[in-house]
Amino acid sequence: MAAPDKFKRILVTSALPYANGPIHLGHLAGAYLPADIYVRYQRLKKRDVVYICGSDEHGVPITIAAEKEGVSPQDIVDKFHFRNKEAFERFGMSFTFYGRTSSPVHHETSREIFTTLNDKNIFQRKTEEQLFDAKANMFLPDRYVKGECPICGYEEAYGDQCEKCGSSLSPTELKNPKSALSDDTPQLKKTEHWYIPLGDFQDRVAKWIDTHKEWKPNVLGQVKSWLNDGLGDRAVTRDLSWGVQVPLPEANGKVLYVWFDAPIGYISATKEWAEQQNDPDLWKTYWQDEETKLVHFIGKDNIVFHCIMFPAMLMAHGKYVLPENVPANEFLNLEGAKLSTSKNYAVWLEDYLQKYEVDPLRYYLTATAPETKDSDFVWQEYLQRNNSELADILGNFINRTLAFTAKRFDGAIPARGKLDDMDQGLLQTLNQAPEKVGEAIEKFEMRKALFSFIDVARSCNKYFNDQEPWKTVKSDPEKCATTINICLHACNMLSLLM
Ligand code: MF3
Ligand code: ZN
Repeated sequence: MAAPDKFKRILVTSALPYANGPIHLGHLAGAYLPADIYVRYQRLKKRDVVYICGSDEHGVPITIAAEKEGVSPQDIVDKFHFRNKEAFERFGMSFTFYGRTSSPVHHETSREIFTTLNDKNIFQRKTEEQLFDAKANMFLPDRYVKGECPICGYEEAYGDQCEKCGSSLSPTELKNPKSALSDDTPQLKKTEHWYIPLGDFQDRVAKWIDTHKEWKPNVLGQVKSWLNDGLGDRAVTRDLSWGVQVPLPEANGKVLYVWFDAPIGYISATKEWAEQQNDPDLWKTYWQDEETKLVHFIGKDNIVFHCIMFPAMLMAHGKYVLPENVPANEFLNLEGAKLSTSKNYAVWLEDYLQKYEVDPLRYYLTATAPETKDSDFVWQEYLQRNNSELADILGNFINRTLAFTAKRFDGAIPARGKLDDMDQGLLQTLNQAPEKVGEAIEKFEMRKALFSFIDVARSCNKYFNDQEPWKTVKSDPEKCATTINICLHACNMLSLLM
């Protein structure tokens, strides 16, 4: 079936999680569960949809984790790639393909795109002073430096980003910088790097963003504030040994910046999927044909990269489609406090799966999804929603209907007779439900979709009560048969909506 717009196919991505630690509930609520709901819905509508994710295996978060554990970066990513892939599967994520950025296809694809941009003279080469840790004898890009955010004053900002105000930073902007390796105050030392002058793309990005008034206000707000501040140059190379080698002899010993190669991971994973399908060029249909609807699901800390930097890279290249939407979520807190991998404050998916079922979690995380503002995961609410909604409304209705059918109709569907107003009312609710739920999902309003769904179950439960089939089974068997027929139809509809 065609999409309800000009598109022939849909390419959905979820942010590639860093393979430096396990998945927690905040990840799920931000970039994974909403995408999975969207994708499952599109598949039910028989639309052509490919859903891509995978491990982000480069960058400083990985090497810092390796140093902490005294193992190699490869050991770290091997461990977490497979663990996270499995945990996602158990959570019911339905990726078409789950790739990883240490794969040879990814390295090749990243180098190709860098080379194309370099051949088009997109980059500037600049020698600048950067922070250097003399004790560790290395430059300190990104998260190797901590210090005070120059924008909001947060004292534990990283060299690439302040997690408090979301600003994207460079290490030399931090006040009172400290090396994450030695805790020393770093020195300045000269080094040469390749920069993408985002200012050259400012007008094109702004014009393109202007054609997307339908994007979520939290996303447009961040993007516009970036554009208002004016886009500057961003280094796309780093003095590190772990990453994709820069494909130029004069850049010996440098690698691509992780935020240059990671989004390319979406492309390389699509290539690997196409190869697996024995149709190696198939990825091009999804990435280079204007009739593809590309949708990036991410958390709010990734907005600038997906709405400005990666699109600028794609524009510079010239052959790729741009995202049609980037429905970024805000953050999920846990019992009133901020989740943190480094402070080990989280509910880890693997731990959850050892104890509890998946569906109540998917249900509660959707009900409390941080769609428009930060939200809070509260165990008591999880319990409450499971018991009073999934069990007492949905479960109760289905159980009553099936038990009654088994007992009174030998488990067969009884025939429908004459309809009264209540019958017609419920049938109308059921008939309208798929469109109502679907419309909300198309607009990335998963909470609204979920509440519409549970409202339908509520109506079904009320209908069963009001029709009193346990009385009509004696007083008016035809009416009872009609009631149960409609209840069974409702069970079928609810399972579809779920
Ligand atoms: N690894 C990043 C994070 O967890 C997300 C990378 S998204 C990609 O914040 F586009 F770069 F892949
Ligand atoms: Zn800040």
